[in-house]
Amino acid sequence: MLLHFLADPGEGHDPHAYRFFEDGLLVVADGRIQAAGPAAELLPALPAGTAVADYRARLIVPGFVDTHVHYPQVDVIASYGAQLLDWLERYTLPAEHRFGDPAHARETADFFLEELLRNGTTTALVFATVHVASVEALFERALARNLRLISGKVLMDRNCPEPLRDTPESGYRDSAALIEKWHGCGRLRYAVSPRFAGMCSEAQLELAGQLAAEHPDVHIQSHLAESVREVQWVRTLFPKSRSYLDVYDRFGLVRERAVYAHCIHLDEQDRRRMAEARAAAAVCPTSNLFLGSGLFDFDAAMRAGMRMGFGTDVGAGTSFGLLRTMHEGYKVAQLRGQRLSPWQAFYLATLGGARALALDEYIGNFAPGKEADFVVLRLDSTPLMMRRVRAAETLQEKLFALMMLGDERNVEATYVMGEPVRLRG
Ligand code: GUN
Ligand code: ZN
Repeated sequence: MLLHFLADPGEGHDPHAYRFFEDGLLVVADGRIQAAGPAAELLPALPAGTAVADYRARLIVPGFVDTHVHYPQVDVIASYGAQLLDWLERYTLPAEHRFGDPAHARETADFFLEELLRNGTTTALVFATVHVASVEALFERALARNLRLISGKVLMDRNCPEPLRDTPESGYRDSAALIEKWHGCGRLRYAVSPRFAGMCSEAQLELAGQLAAEHPDVHIQSHLAESVREVQWVRTLFPKSRSYLDVYDRFGLVRERAVYAHCIHLDEQDRRRMAEARAAAAVCPTSNLFLGSGLFDFDAAMRAGMRMGFGTDVGAGTSFGLLRTMHEGYKVAQLRGQRLSPWQAFYLATLGGARALALDEYIGNFAPGKEADFVVLRLDSTPLMMRRVRAAETLQEKLFALMMLGDERNVEATYVMGEPVRLRG
């Protein structure tokens, strides 16, 4: 089975938004998609001797896209008993000190990238730490795996431990050098990465905006309106700004290729502004529930026409898996009296995420010419799942069972540029 999206299915079930082939074939050459369609049509046209992998009982979808995750936080995932600002101080920042050490950074980057692939994630927008070495290590390891990945040196110059601080000037200089070296190297891209308004001075945000203006092709990533306490704190730090979003906007940081994690405590004006600027929200339900930060408003974001994708936000998030992220997203929507359909969820985890990252000319679906990053999912990974899927009468029911019951055990194989990089069993 093959499933991919051509458009946003919206809140309902728009049959024009996706293509599904019960007995499908994905034709790949030189790492790119040649065709996706019915096997009966495409098989006879293949050149003699073409290798064919048989995944008939499986579901093939485009590689999952994680629009927000922190690789240096793998060792603090599942840290007990704190909400955002205390969690940062108690667990997260202490763990980030070690990433000035290239050996530690490399070892962690390898673990992290394998974890992405084990979960079927082939593209991610990743926070490193303030240390140049942390970015170098991640890019090196991702380049070796030929991944389409975006990252950047974190900018943070106040309200954090001294050894984790840069300065506006050193942050600017180091970022510019990293852009020069890594942006566009292989499939890698750079993101200017001010951590969040709470830890960046005005001077730092100003230089971040200058970098973003000097390199319109690079991405921007930060955090926005995650918890109530954080929003109140940022208001005291930037009393002249109309809203938290406006802090970033004043410095030219709200534009296409900018991705803001969380976006929970926004108002209508903020949402309209993000939509108009083509900035995107990274929706991180496992993190938001874990830290007790709040409930993302899917309906309001859709009504405003905001771009969005899913983020795992590990280590505040509790899973690397996009299936688990969809599942918690569904529950977040329920708590708001809203519905997240399996169509919308699989769209957000694939093409929606690619659009949020402005990478949809390369990845996100099986349009001919796109890079052949895809994942092979089994629907029978546990006895319960096998039973539930057998009882399902429609594709929608099967997808919903996969989204609500699935995890990395469902990932049978992950392919990057047409090559299997992760095979289970
Ligand atoms: N806000 C600023 N830094 C962070 C972080 O590392 N994780 C989360 N969830 N929120 C943040
Ligand atoms: Zn985060």
